[in-house]
Amino acid sequence: MAKLATDRWTRKHLLGLEDTTADEILAVLDTANEFFPCCTGRRPAPRLLEGRTILNLFCEDSTRTRTSFTFAGERLGARVYQFHAATSSLKKNESLADTVRNIDAMGLDAIVIRHPQRGAPQRVAEYVGCSVLSAGDDAYEHPTQALLDMLAVRRKTGRFEGLTLALVGDVQHSRVARSNLFGWSKFGNRVVFVGPQVFTHDLDVEVEVTEDFDAVLPECDVIMMLRVQFERHEHLAFDIDDYIRDYQLTPARLAKAKPGALVLHPGPINRGIELVNEVADGPQSLILYQATCGVAVRMAALSLCIAALDAERQSG
Ligand code: ASP
Ligand code: CP
Repeated sequence: MAKLATDRWTRKHLLGLEDTTADEILAVLDTANEFFPCCTGRRPAPRLLEGRTILNLFCEDSTRTRTSFTFAGERLGARVYQFHAATSSLKKNESLADTVRNIDAMGLDAIVIRHPQRGAPQRVAEYVGCSVLSAGDDAYEHPTQALLDMLAVRRKTGRFEGLTLALVGDVQHSRVARSNLFGWSKFGNRVVFVGPQVFTHDLDVEVEVTEDFDAVLPECDVIMMLRVQFERHEHLAFDIDDYIRDYQLTPARLAKAKPGALVLHPGPINRGIELVNEVADGPQSLILYQATCGVAVRMAALSLCIAALDAERQSG
């Protein structure tokens, strides 16, 4: 029977990592480790969420996060409903507040929300009584992505402190970079944002920054490549050939990192831009392992948040 770390995680929402403590992060990762053997569905998982209803409310495109929350909830016995923004009454100008309040009134245990506006998960958490889990908001936070990245590295290396991580590319428009910075920094790791000035000049976080990828590589234990967020650029001029020359992760560049350095990418990958096939599919890549870890992390996050919701419902 999987042991939930409900003594260390008592929140009904998971909205970001900035305000999440190191102990709470470990509670999710330890619980995810409990679920890991059954996260792919090839071994039966405990039906901890039998009879529960979860709404996947995605107002931005997604492959991994939507699928992974769906598999996580269903493998634990919950019903997971897919809300399709494009065919919903949001199109008739219904507000997000009214949308979620109405669906919550039908009986919900959790909403998983991805939204193009910063802070949308926090606002939804104020409108509804059920749990709310962020699946990414604007360029702000993507907490379960960072948690799955942490789980993947921790499981592969057994290490979680004293690592140097380079987060490379369009860091300024990346919610993955922000959530990873918040998460890893709480455990005494060194996080370096690496990218051209056009992607680093307006950061809203305190972080070590460099333009020189080749110079920092020999210090790196973990290299997290990020997709250029073309959809978040308004009139941003940059030369893609220069970018590829200076930042694309190739076998030659990877050879400059510490031996056995791990390569991560949250996906979706733009092969041939931020990294090449030999690296994406090579022995140091954790990219598909990250996807597997994502299911375990979301099983943990859903179970822990819903356990806290139950405690609140019982006490209320
Ligand atoms: N899938 C991740 C996100 O939604 C990363 C990306 O899209 O580049 O933030
Ligand atoms: N990593 C990630 O969030 O992928 P999706 O955008 O496909 O969900």
